[in-house]
Amino acid sequence: MEARPAVDDAALGRGAWSVLDANRAGAATVPAPGLYPHQWNWDSTFVAIGLARWNTRRAGAELLGLLAGQWRTGMVPHIVFRPARTEAYFPGPSVWRSRENPASPNGTPTSGLTQPPLHALAAWWVWRHAADREEAAALVRRLYPMLVAQHAYLATTRDLGGGGLAAIVHPWESGMDDSPVWDAPVGALPAVRYAYRREEPPGCHSDSHQDRYVWLALRYRDSGYDAAYLREDHPFAVEDPMFNGIWLASCQVLAELAPLAGADPGPHLEAAERIRAGLLERLWSDGVFRARDLRSGRLSPVSTVGCFGPMLDPGLPADRVEKLVGVLESPRFMGAAGYPVPSCEIRAPQFDRSRYWRGPSWVNTNWLLRLALAVHGRTDLVRLLGAGTLRLVRQAGFRECFDPFDGSGRGSGDFSCSAALTLDLLADNVGI
Ligand code: GLC
Repeated sequence: MEARPAVDDAALGRGAWSVLDANRAGAATVPAPGLYPHQWNWDSTFVAIGLARWNTRRAGAELLGLLAGQWRTGMVPHIVFRPARTEAYFPGPSVWRSRENPASPNGTPTSGLTQPPLHALAAWWVWRHAADREEAAALVRRLYPMLVAQHAYLATTRDLGGGGLAAIVHPWESGMDDSPVWDAPVGALPAVRYAYRREEPPGCHSDSHQDRYVWLALRYRDSGYDAAYLREDHPFAVEDPMFNGIWLASCQVLAELAPLAGADPGPHLEAAERIRAGLLERLWSDGVFRARDLRSGRLSPVSTVGCFGPMLDPGLPADRVEKLVGVLESPRFMGAAGYPVPSCEIRAPQFDRSRYWRGPSWVNTNWLLRLALAVHGRTDLVRLLGAGTLRLVRQAGFRECFDPFDGSGRGSGDFSCSAALTLDLLADNVGI
C-alpha cells in the first residue's frame, strides 16, 4: 500500500476536479493522460454522471461530443478519436478505417465497436440532478433521438441470439476487456501474431491473447462492419449480463425522459420487459447471471462482477435479487475482500488480484453495483460500497483499479472515471 497522508472530503473533491480538468480535451474528457488519449464511450458516460450535480453544461457537452461519433446505424463507437493525436493509441484510426464506411459520421474517426449503453442512464442522471431544469430538459430533447437510434440498433443488429438480448461482438465492447469470461470464446479463435506497438499497463493479457483481440477487430472491419456478417460468420458473439443489465436500466429511464421529448414512453418499457425476460430465460443459472457464448452455446463457468448487472433492474424478481446479494456478500466476492468489489470471484482459478478485470476492484463497477443495491433498497450495502470505494481513492488516489485485498492502486493514475464518480459518491454518501 502506498503511504499517503489522510485526505479529507474537501481535498478529495479538489483532487477529483483537478484530474477532470487536466484530462479535458475540448468538450471531451479523456480517460487518462498518456495511455488513453481519446474519448472513450463508457468512460465519458461515467464522467457525465460525476459532473451531473455541478456542471450540466459540461456533462451535456461530454455526452454530445461522444454522440457526435454515432454511426448512422445507431451504433455509438467505443472510441471517438481526437484529431490531434490520431495514432497515439493502438489500434488507431488507420486500423479501424471508419471513414471508409458510409455509415460512419462525416469527418470524425472512430472505432467500429461499441461499449455498454449507459448513455440514457447518464442523460437521466444529468437531468435528475441539474440545478437548471430548462437547460437539462433542452439537453434531453437533443439527446433523445440519438438514444432511441442507439437502442434500436441494439435491439435489431445486435440481437444475434434472437432472444431479446444484445450480443457483444468483441471483448472490448464489454468495458471489462480482459475478464476471464472471454477466455473460452477468445481461446477458440485462431492463434495469430502481429507486430505492433501497444502501450498497456502491466497486468493485461499475454500478447497472444491481445493478438486474437486485434484479429477479431480486423475480421469485423474487413466485413465492412456488416450486420449480416455478424449474424452468420463472426466468431465471437456473447450475451453479457452487465451489458444487458445496463441496457435494461437505460430503457427504463428513457421511458421517463420520453415525455420531455414529446414521445411515447411505452416502447421503452416494452423493451425493458423483453430484456428482463431474455436475461431470466437465457442467462440465469446456478444462482447468478452468466454470459452466454452464442457460438458454443455455453454459459460462462466463472462468476464476475458482471453477473450482478441485471440487479440494475427495479423489476428483477425479489428471489433473484436475494440470491445475487447473497453471492455478493459471500466470501466469493465482498466477504473475503478488504475492499469492494473484486472483478472476479475470489475462489475462481482465474482470479488474479493484480491483473486487469481478473480480480482488481474498479470504481465504475462499484458505482453501478451501489446503484443496483439502492434500486432494491439495500441501504446497508449501499453504505458499505460507497464508503469502501471512497477509502480506495483516499488511500491510493484516482487509479484505474485497485487490489481488492490491500487497496493498492493498479493501472493508470489520474483516471477520469474514478475521479468523476468520486464526486458523485462524495455528494451522496448515504443513499441514492
Ligand atoms: C480499458 C478498460 C475499459 C475502458 C478503457 C478506457 O480498456 O478495460 O473499461 O473503457 O480502458 O479507459
